[in-house]
Amino acid sequence: MVLKKLLSSTREIPATGEMPAHVAIIMDGNGRWARKRLMPRVAGHKRGLEAVREIVRTCIERGIRHLTLFAFSSENWRRPEDEVSFLMNLFLRALEDEIARLHKNRIRFRVIGDLTRFDPRIRQLIADAETLTANNDQLTLSIAANYGGRWDILNAMSAMLAANPGKREGFSEADLAPHLALADAPEPDLFIRTGGEERVSNFLLWQLAYTEFYFTDILWPEFDTAAFEVALKSYSQRERRFGRTSEQLQPAAAEEAR
Ligand code: IPE
Ligand code: IPE
Ligand code: MG
Repeated sequence: MVLKKLLSSTREIPATGEMPAHVAIIMDGNGRWARKRLMPRVAGHKRGLEAVREIVRTCIERGIRHLTLFAFSSENWRRPEDEVSFLMNLFLRALEDEIARLHKNRIRFRVIGDLTRFDPRIRQLIADAETLTANNDQLTLSIAANYGGRWDILNAMSAMLAANPGKREGFSEADLAPHLALADAPEPDLFIRTGGEERVSNFLLWQLAYTEFYFTDILWPEFDTAAFEVALKSYSQRERRFGRTSEQLQPAAAEEAR
């Protein structure tokens, strides 16, 4: 049932397995990677794109169906103008150069975030890429650009009110959830942040309610398949209880309790 899939995990216990269905990553540490090599910060962003390619490939190999990457936050406009414009150019070139390959690999490409602030050329490329890849089913790659978790919730709230003219109260999570970014994906099972910081930085605030967190000091340009495997291993050893007791999760006990 479509609606059931949209319910938040605070309302429904999702089916989970050894391998996450949805991985969300804050790709942090590009600047420090470059600085360590006495290179300009932007060299780290360029190198970071290579890490993206590798992790996308690994997701496909491991059968992960959804990958969401934080590429540019709504707060990143505060960076020096030349770094912001380098990042915009890198994004533009990546859109031009990578989409055909993504499509060939049956990847569905999407961008989440407030796109109104982007250059019209970038917006057009995004729209074209989303249309081209809309029916692909190997992996859904969502890039968060000018994204903020608070923006997402507010935006969903406005859309929910618009969809319910005249209604002012009595809304539920199920009314809001379909209007959030990533509404058609399961909520992230695994959240990874590279670069050593242990914070959410206004990423998917609503959607991470029951996600497993994994932090690593590895800087994003060095986050390769081997490092990703370590994160996946850590995930596979977690016990996800969603509010229940550990005993309730044991099949025998669950059978007895029935
Ligand atoms: C993450 O790396 C990429 C973006 C935010 C675009 P940083 O640029 O934040 O790298 P550090 O944290 O300064 O090392
Ligand atoms: C978060 O990284 C955003 C992205 C990776 C795109 P930042 O490096 O901007 O986060 P803060 O400011 O250190 O929290
Ligand atoms: Mg950073």
